[in-house]
Amino acid sequence: DHLREDNLSEETRTLISSLPSTKDFLGKIYNYQGCWYYPNTLLGVLNFQKGFKPQETDIVIASFPKSGTTWLKALTVALLERSKYIPFLETNLYLNSSTPDLTKFSSPRLFSTHMPLHTLQVPFKDSPCKIVYVCRDVKDVLVSQWYFRSAYLQKEVDKSLLESSLDSLCSGVGYFGPIWENVLSYWRGSLEDPEHILFMRYEEMKSEPAAQVKRLAEFLGCPFTEEEEEGGSVDKILELCSLRSLSSMEINKTGKTSNNVHHSNFFRKGEVGDSKNHLTPEMENKIDMIMEEKYKGSGLKY
Ligand code: A3P
Repeated sequence: DHLREDNLSEETRTLISSLPSTKDFLGKIYNYQGCWYYPNTLLGVLNFQKGFKPQETDIVIASFPKSGTTWLKALTVALLERSKYIPFLETNLYLNSSTPDLTKFSSPRLFSTHMPLHTLQVPFKDSPCKIVYVCRDVKDVLVSQWYFRSAYLQKEVDKSLLESSLDSLCSGVGYFGPIWENVLSYWRGSLEDPEHILFMRYEEMKSEPAAQVKRLAEFLGCPFTEEEEEGGSVDKILELCSLRSLSSMEINKTGKTSNNVHHSNFFRKGEVGDSKNHLTPEMENKIDMIMEEKYKGSGLKY
């Protein structure tokens, strides 16, 4: 993710050079509006804020990476019976341009993002669009990140990558970090404006999937009818979007994303508490203490 300097406007160049920057274990990283981005993603964020025009019916799936984005996307698509693809605003659509062609999108348009709420809301200001956020226990996010990064870097799953991922997560200096700012931005948003921002938890989606998918359907404005419920529609959607079913689809077995990541890497175990099998008690304590401190007073329990 290197900065393509050649076609940057003077304005963008000046802005970027004024931003705090540092290096994490994967490379140069910039802080914009409180969130850390690798160079290309940063350009995507800037393009998005500059060029995005919201529509009233837009729906955005938001998350910190490795928190259940793929699952929530599948459920949303299944619920709305729409196109199979939910592009990321900053890392797909707006990556290279502030004026991508969105005319082919039928409404409701579906987008996804890992940006924090205040950054996402710059163009969405005063728009009644709906935002669904999925949040996950940070320890499981870390382990999921570790496996994903190993696959991405085509390296063995080794301790040193776990440790650098842990450091980056705990310091907040890392891809889309700090995670607590990401989570808290949507948590507070959901308390202030529950009609437009839904806060979901990966763990609840696992422990009470039917209740959570009904909650999502209601929020999206497509609640299940009584007949649908009696006809087993809820279970059918859950089955269609289960890790087993998604990961056995041909496109997910053989396909790759635009930046060359195999789709299969987005499906691993999908369990709650897998971190217990990989983190030492010291690592777990360190994360728990940081999160407790960061979430103090917010009303968010994790
Ligand atoms: P694990 O690595 O813990 O298994 P994201 O989609 O945000 O990148 O998150 C990836 C995590 O979600 C991975 O977690 C992956 O296995 C899990 N996941 C993907 N699809 C899922 C599904 N349909 N149901 C439950 N978990 C799923």
